[in-house]
This record gives sequence, structure tokens and C-alpha cells, in this order.
Amino acid sequence: MIIAPASGELASGLFGCGRMEEPDIIYNIIEKYFKTRDDFCGKSILVTAGPTYENIDPVRFIGNHSSGLMGFSIAEEFANRGANVHLISGPSQLSTNNPSISCTKVTSAKEMHDCCLDLFPKTDITIMAAAVSDYAPITINKQKIKKSNSDLSLKLKPTIDILAELGKRKSNSQFLAGFALETENEVVNAQKKIIQKKLNLILLNSLNDHGAGFAVTTNKITAIDQEGNITKFDLKSKNEVAKDIADLIKQMIEKHSFVKNV
Ligand code: CTP
Repeated sequence: MIIAPASGELASGLFGCGRMEEPDIIYNIIEKYFKTRDDFCGKSILVTAGPTYENIDPVRFIGNHSSGLMGFSIAEEFANRGANVHLISGPSQLSTNNPSISCTKVTSAKEMHDCCLDLFPKTDITIMAAAVSDYAPITINKQKIKKSNSDLSLKLKPTIDILAELGKRKSNSQFLAGFALETENEVVNAQKKIIQKKLNLILLNSLNDHGAGFAVTTNKITAIDQEGNITKFDLKSKNEVAKDIADLIKQMIEKHSFVKNV
């Protein structure tokens, strides 16, 4: 953590940025830092991250551009605030050595589904940041599909909606949050997902916002809660977005009775 210098009159007599910050402000920042560090202590958090890959044959797959950074940042934030985090990540270049995060790597939507369903009953707070493939090939070719001069059609089947499955299984003391990635009618579509998937909170990303979404280190989210409250956040680094998400969940938990004692 860095406490930046304040602006004002400097020892040289000039005015500008470079004064020591006021002691009471330094004290407040340090107090807040230590207070929030363990505010999820003892809580069990499930986070998903990254894309899924749905194999077509031994060398090709259906995937997407997700880097996994948003999910990894959320996992780090909760772990740094005292939680025990289980991170389920699709194929991503990222890794973590945070001792409070246990990470399971999966490839397909089916593997992510099985892993989530297994862990969900013991989880207090779940945040699904993964960009799960909505379709998978009906059959996976055992051998590499050879090229020919004719068109190639792939028959796809829908994958299971993991978040909706968790929504069906959710108890009143569990907190469930999802992401919504939209390109049009963003708020209306995200509101539909809250209801359809029985969520407490949805975090909307619009690909129309510059600097938001996949394969960038920043994000711009709009949070919509189960009561319809809408909070818009500025464009920030994904680490800072993860802080905002944890703070918002903390506030919601304090207001309602989910996950007692957080
Ligand atoms: N999700 C999921 N399982 C799927 C598809 C999506 O768990 N098979 C989750 C994502 O992790 C995300 C949320 O559902 O938290 C919304 O994902 P999104 O891609 O925005 O929407 P979809 O539900 O897939 O619907 P659509 O693609 O039609 O917008």
C-alpha cells in the first residue's frame, strides 16, 4: 500500500505535491487497511475464472478471449481479506501462489460444472466470473479433422448453465453473484439474468465500454442487486474492481441476513 504525498505549501516555500500526508489521514488509511484485511475471515468463497474450451478434435476447440484476470483478482481480494477461496479456472496463463487460494484447473464447461456443484454446498459466497462456453460440439472427433474443399458444419449442443444450476440449489444463507457480458440492451438483459438464475447480484460488463471486458487489465462494471439497485463504477484496474465487488458484497451481507457473521 502506498500513501501518496499531499499537495500544499512545501518546505522550500513553493506550492505543489510533495508534503507529508496529515498524520490523522495516515492513521485512518492504516486503520481501514487492517480493518478490511480480515472482514471475510473464516468464510468459504468459490470463484470461477477464465474461458472454457470445448474440444472439436485433438487439436481444435471452441473458446473465447477471456484471460481469467477478473476472476483471479476477485479470488486474491477475498483471500487477502481473510477468506478461504476455491478458484476454479478454465484454461488461463495465470496462476496464484496465495496460500489462502486453492486452485483447480479445468478445461470444459462440463468439468467446471462438476467441480462447482461439488464445492457449492460448503460455500458461503460464490462469484462466477468465468466466460463459460454456451455451446459444445455434440461429438468430439477422435482424430484430427482433415481439410477438404467442401464446407464443414459442426453440430453443437448447449452446455449446462452452471450459474443457473447453482441458483436452483442456493440456500437462503448463501450469496450468489454472476457476471453478465452484454453488447446491447445491457441493463435489461442483466436484470433478466438475475431473475432467471436466482442471483443476489449481477456485475454487468458492456463490450461497448472502452477498456472493459476480455483481454484488458481494466474493467468497468455496473452492479445490479436483487432489489433492482443499480451502482455504476468507473473504469478501473481489475484489482480495484475486485475491491469494489468485495465491498459491495460486504454491504449487502450486512444489510440482509446472508452468510451470518461476515
Ligand atoms: N454462465 C454459466 N454457465 C454457462 C454460461 C454462463 O455459469 N453455460 C455464467 C457466467 O459465468 C456468468 C453468467 O452465467 O456469470 C452470465 O454469462 P453470460 O455469458 O453473460 O450470459 P449467458 O447466460 O451465457 O447468456 P447469453 O450468452 O445469451 O447472454
